[in-house]
Amino acid sequence: MKRVFSGVQPTGNIHIGNYIGAIKQFVELQETMDCFFCVVDLHSITLPQNPEELYKHTLDVAALYMAVGIDPKKATIFIQSHVPAHTELSWLLLCNSYMGELSRMTQFKDKSSGKDAVPTGLFAYPALMAADILLYDTHIVPVGSDQKQHLELTRDIAIRFNNRFGETFVVPDVKIKEVGAKIMALDEPTKKMSKSAENPLSRISLLDTPAQIKKSIMKSTTDSDNEIRYDVENKPGISNLLTIYSLFSGLTIPEIENKYKDSGYGTLKKDLVEVVTGSLSEIQDKFYKIRESEELKIILQEGAAKANTIANETLARAKKKLGF
Ligand code: ADP
Ligand code: NA
Repeated sequence: MKRVFSGVQPTGNIHIGNYIGAIKQFVELQETMDCFFCVVDLHSITLPQNPEELYKHTLDVAALYMAVGIDPKKATIFIQSHVPAHTELSWLLLCNSYMGELSRMTQFKDKSSGKDAVPTGLFAYPALMAADILLYDTHIVPVGSDQKQHLELTRDIAIRFNNRFGETFVVPDVKIKEVGAKIMALDEPTKKMSKSAENPLSRISLLDTPAQIKKSIMKSTTDSDNEIRYDVENKPGISNLLTIYSLFSGLTIPEIENKYKDSGYGTLKKDLVEVVTGSLSEIQDKFYKIRESEELKIILQEGAAKANTIANETLARAKKKLGF
């Protein structure tokens, strides 16, 4: 069976971009593949986190995984820091990667630009991500399109290591959705929706209240021609709303365009509020039940045990090749 690995950082509330771009795919893949879904808490400290909140956010992501439909009987859910092999392999991979290739990562350039003190972890983070993936002999990595470059680097590192030291790692393939791989910020639809943007109206978090959802959508940036048509180039705001509408309702974009051919943006936005609020309220009901249950921590312990077994085997293989 093909192996799948992916992760989400526990940095504040997961937004609908994370959900549509990545997590929704996880739910489909668990049916036919051997899936490992990780809460990548070690990644989140590449930028300052509040120690009082980190573990809470970590449990939130794990509970959200389950609330959206990841079934711990079908997939392994675990916390990255519960599997020490991630940190250990990342060092071995860092010593087999180059300043030049890490410096070329656009996410590093974006996140470090304008800072006078750039944390080393922010620079090294793609090597940790490579370790995450390679430890599980992963075939497929479902992610949003912002992660494409990091995945290419993971492949380069794996191929290089295999060439230098002999066959060690499976070289993974990236899986990016055709629609929804990059949900844009609602206030500025030329930038991706992100957890870290300052304006809370720029995103819809999975745990937002109906009032917050309504405010973000109704205030979202569109254009002035009042024509509901999918055209990313010229109408990024409306196209983004149509994408969100489609992925939450199951209707295709042409079906939605047709439905609103005689309506204006106000109507589309109002209906989208209904669609999103309905879906998220279902997810939220499940989330709060799971988050408060004792079972969550047991599931994460079992997940970690399973992950540790596989990860330790791969780590041992890599260490042996290096001469340890
Ligand atoms: P963020 O980038 O929001 O901090 P993560 O780094 O934890 O979130 O990414 C988790 C997953 O969500 C990754 O697969 C990433 O590619 C995906 N993702 C992040 N932002 C978006 C977006 N705006 N649209 C689609 N997918 C996204
Ligand atoms: Na990201």
